[in-house]
Amino acid sequence: MKEDTYKKGKKNIENANLEDYAKAARTFTWKDSRKYVDWTEGGLNAAYNAVDRHAQTWRKNKVALYWEDEAGNAKKYTFEELSLLSNQVGNVLKDFGVERGDRVFLFLPRIPELYFSFLGILKIGAIAGTLFSAFQEQALFDRLENSGAKVLLTTRELKPRVDAVKKKLPELKHILIVDEEPFAKSVENASDALRIAHTDPDDYAFMLYTSGTTGKPKGVVHSHRAILQEHMTAHWVLDLRDEDAYWCTADPGWVTGIAYEILGSWSNGVAALVYAGRFDPDRWYKLLDKYNISVWYTAPTAIRMLMAAGDSLIKKHNLSHLRHLCSVGEPLNPEAVRWSIKVFGMPFHDTWWQTETGAICIANYPSMDIKIGSMGKPVPGLTAAIVDDNGHELGVNKEGNIALKPKWPSMMHTIWRRPQKYKSYFTNGWYISGDRGMMDKDGYFWFIGRADDVIKTSGERVGPFEVESALVAHPSVVEAGVIGKPDTMRGEIIKAFVVLEKSVIEKTKTKPQLEKIKEELSLYVKKHLAGHAYPREIEFMDKLPKTRSGKIMRRILKAKELGLPIGDTSTLEDY
Ligand code: WTA
Repeated sequence: MKEDTYKKGKKNIENANLEDYAKAARTFTWKDSRKYVDWTEGGLNAAYNAVDRHAQTWRKNKVALYWEDEAGNAKKYTFEELSLLSNQVGNVLKDFGVERGDRVFLFLPRIPELYFSFLGILKIGAIAGTLFSAFQEQALFDRLENSGAKVLLTTRELKPRVDAVKKKLPELKHILIVDEEPFAKSVENASDALRIAHTDPDDYAFMLYTSGTTGKPKGVVHSHRAILQEHMTAHWVLDLRDEDAYWCTADPGWVTGIAYEILGSWSNGVAALVYAGRFDPDRWYKLLDKYNISVWYTAPTAIRMLMAAGDSLIKKHNLSHLRHLCSVGEPLNPEAVRWSIKVFGMPFHDTWWQTETGAICIANYPSMDIKIGSMGKPVPGLTAAIVDDNGHELGVNKEGNIALKPKWPSMMHTIWRRPQKYKSYFTNGWYISGDRGMMDKDGYFWFIGRADDVIKTSGERVGPFEVESALVAHPSVVEAGVIGKPDTMRGEIIKAFVVLEKSVIEKTKTKPQLEKIKEELSLYVKKHLAGHAYPREIEFMDKLPKTRSGKIMRRILKAKELGLPIGDTSTLEDY
């Protein structure tokens, strides 16, 4: 592999929160993180650490949240305001009978209510679950049913999707509409004093549904202890400081939006921007300029789209406040790093982690040289390695599974109601991530690909099984096999191979007719599963490659699509 290193100068090193990576990696233990957070009487509450403790210091009147939507409406909230509003939501939820350990789900766009409600849920010891606002009825049903959510907070606009499935959800007792009078009034009238639940570090705090190769999405459960690693990584990797204006472009429907837009970032007392609009290059640069953003955490698809929008756009804006850039969620291509050095005068720092890991685990640090194309080195306090399928460590420059040594503070605690699934992550004392990679002689980790069929499209994790199930629910479809097809802009796009009903095939002979069905199927998935998880490409097949036991072999579909050798076909049914 050709190596291209971006050297860090004295200035990068001396000013960094983590000055000496090598020393920290050698000496840091998680006990040392205790002084960065507030343990009250032995308990640890992640939301208390994120906002309330700052509301008791000079940061009381410091802006914690700058919020702006697409129409240009803007609001801001201080740490004290977030603390009081989240107390009020906590009190309202208690009035609705929410108790410790109950699941309260948020099906909300990126509006301020999402942020203070999330905090309020944690403060009363309940478990917060977030649902991406692009989800449609099938995705909602699967997640609300499995979690046994008792209360759901949503908006007037999103509510009809919940209404379509609520009859099938006996455990869901209350649906509260945050932008309607009754709820808004009850929050306003609620007491802003709340005794924060004295949560044990291992008490569950939040859960997120994520996808694997097979089956329904899994409820990854995290505890309050996660705040330790979220705080430390926001400090070391994002390098957050009091004077920063920080922008994380993620949505709290995914883990990055929780760990680094709510918990870890605010725990560091930083002022954060939330933009509630869609991606738009000019608007994004305007926001960087207007809010004097100094630290920016985003994703490779967005970076590639900015590259494609052209450099002249950048010159129209004053981006002189930028000082540190980070990326997550998909492979960050070396060209994107070189481009950022050219146009912003600094590289994007790649970071690697997963919903299950709860916080950044491998990263590039401000004070450490970057081997461009590498994800960097393990976070101090963590042991990462490349292991074979039996959990045995492999030597340098050998491809294998990216693995972590349990337990780290933000490691998931369980898969909700699926303990066997949780166990299946661990082999021979290692957590096996599902990603393939290698480690070089200097201890830098390099990403190679997924070990399974999980799709990453525009940085969002999609399970092929969910998309296949949605397609098969359409009356014209007999079978479907779904893969991630490499795409220069989005990393991957979702491609579906579909076998149509005989009667439909007989009726559709012409190309325009077939195109029309493709469109209909894409729209169907968009409407019933999720706005982001629909197939951008569909190909009709007479039959799908399957194992003798009837499992669709996505590996073969993918190999054919990419023109690669098909590999071992000994388990393949006649095809
Ligand atoms: C992928 C997102 C390459 C990987 C925080 C992982 C990455 C999955 C990187 C988790 C990176 C994340 N380079 N791939 N720096 N970071 N991934 O659960 O396949 O949505 O397993 O968590 O994203 O996605 P998830």
